[in-house]
Amino acid sequence: MKASTSIASLILLLILVSANWLCCEAQQCRPSGRITGKKPPPGECNQENDSECCVQGKMYTTYKCSPAVSSNTEAQLTLNSFEKGGDGGGPSACDNQYHSDDTPVVALSTGWFNNSSRCLHNVTISANGKSVVAMVVDECDSTMGCDEDHDYQPPCSNNIVDASKAVWNALGVPHNQWGGLKITWADA
Ligand SMILES: *[C@@H]1O[C@H](CO)[C@@H](O)[C@H](O)[C@H]1NC(C)=O
Ligand SMILES: *[C@@H]1O[C@H](CO)[C@@H](O)[C@H](O)[C@H]1NC(C)=O
Ligand SMILES: *[C@@H]1O[C@H](CO)[C@@H](O)[C@H](O)[C@H]1NC(C)=O
Ligand SMILES: *[C@@H]1O[C@H](CO)[C@@H](O)[C@H](O)[C@H]1NC(C)=O
Repeated sequence: MKASTSIASLILLLILVSANWLCCEAQQCRPSGRITGKKPPPGECNQENDSECCVQGKMYTTYKCSPAVSSNTEAQLTLNSFEKGGDGGGPSACDNQYHSDDTPVVALSTGWFNNSSRCLHNVTISANGKSVVAMVVDECDSTMGCDEDHDYQPPCSNNIVDASKAVWNALGVPHNQWGGLKITWADA
């Protein structure tokens, strides 16, 4: 191989590598900040469904974005109550109402909630070879937490589908495994 040919192919290789780096770097969701945990005041932070409470002094990463959405987006399914007095805090952000936990409803991490663009739209959640259609009614806030508005719970991770028990039931997950499950979801 002539020297000029190998230099040309080296340059081509460099261009390909840097184009690839630029492409995927741009798609990556990076943290937007951190907050310091505050200990919940007495009686705050409802733990009846294994919700996590903020720990004094612990640092929590925040995100304004979520991983890119596809027809098969990987996520972590968590359990939430959307009823009054449940661990979901106030009424749902999309309609300012509470929802029965016997209806399939979910909250999405901030990036996927996408400024309410998915509000009252349905998503299909798949796991265990089963799938269920659920309505997006709330945001799982990845940008804030550890305050009264968030029931002294930490900010959400950026890849959360936080679901009512109807969703867990429909996916046929045994009760003793409720709480954290890898799933995929898509806009319905
Ligand atoms: C939360 O826990 C309470 C009491 O154990 C239970 O009645 C309720 O159904 C649970 N909520 C969810 C969403 O699992
Ligand atoms: C957010 O919503 C906009 C406008 O509806 C849409 O173009 C964009 O793809 C959405 N982004 C995500 C991450 O869902
Ligand atoms: C939501 O809107 C704000 C302000 O218009 C914008 O800065 C932000 O990027 C948007 N978020 C998403 C996930 O599209
Ligand atoms: C979402 O699904 C529910 C129940 O299947 C249905 O009643 C509702 O019309 C759907 N909403 C949208 C926006 O498609």
